[in-house]
Amino acid sequence: MKILLGSDHGGYDLRLEVAKYLEELGHEVVQYGSKGGESVDYPLVAQEVCPKVLAGEGDFGILICGTGIGISIAANKIHGIRAALCTDCYMAEFTRKHNNANVLCMGGRVTGPGTACKIAETFLSNGFEGGRHQRRIDEIE
Ligand code: RB5
Repeated sequence: MKILLGSDHGGYDLRLEVAKYLEELGHEVVQYGSKGGESVDYPLVAQEVCPKVLAGEGDFGILICGTGIGISIAANKIHGIRAALCTDCYMAEFTRKHNNANVLCMGGRVTGPGTACKIAETFLSNGFEGGRHQRRIDEIE
């Protein structure tokens, strides 16, 4: 898959770890946001990555800030984006199965690299179940 991976400074270190792991799994990863750990505003990162996800330039987006909260709030302002802040693999599995999330959010100051990499792997390896869950997504829309 092609993954569009963005972060601010708060998510920079974790972003590098997740990028390396996903590339080792065989995914193509394109990175956005803070280039070397310098301060970047997380709404601007979400606003750069999310339209590309909607345009099909990547299969999924992954966005990381310090807590994962700000960047998920910003991403969810963009119509068509279903951004899920996940802190464990159960959340990652079921936000794909039930919410058809197209963006995964994590917190670089909250979630350690080992857990974050497994969350990303789980998110990418689960699919949407449709059915009653599609009706609920339609209700959100
Ligand atoms: C930046 O210091 C921090 O506010 C940001 O990364 C994020 O945690 C916001 O929700």
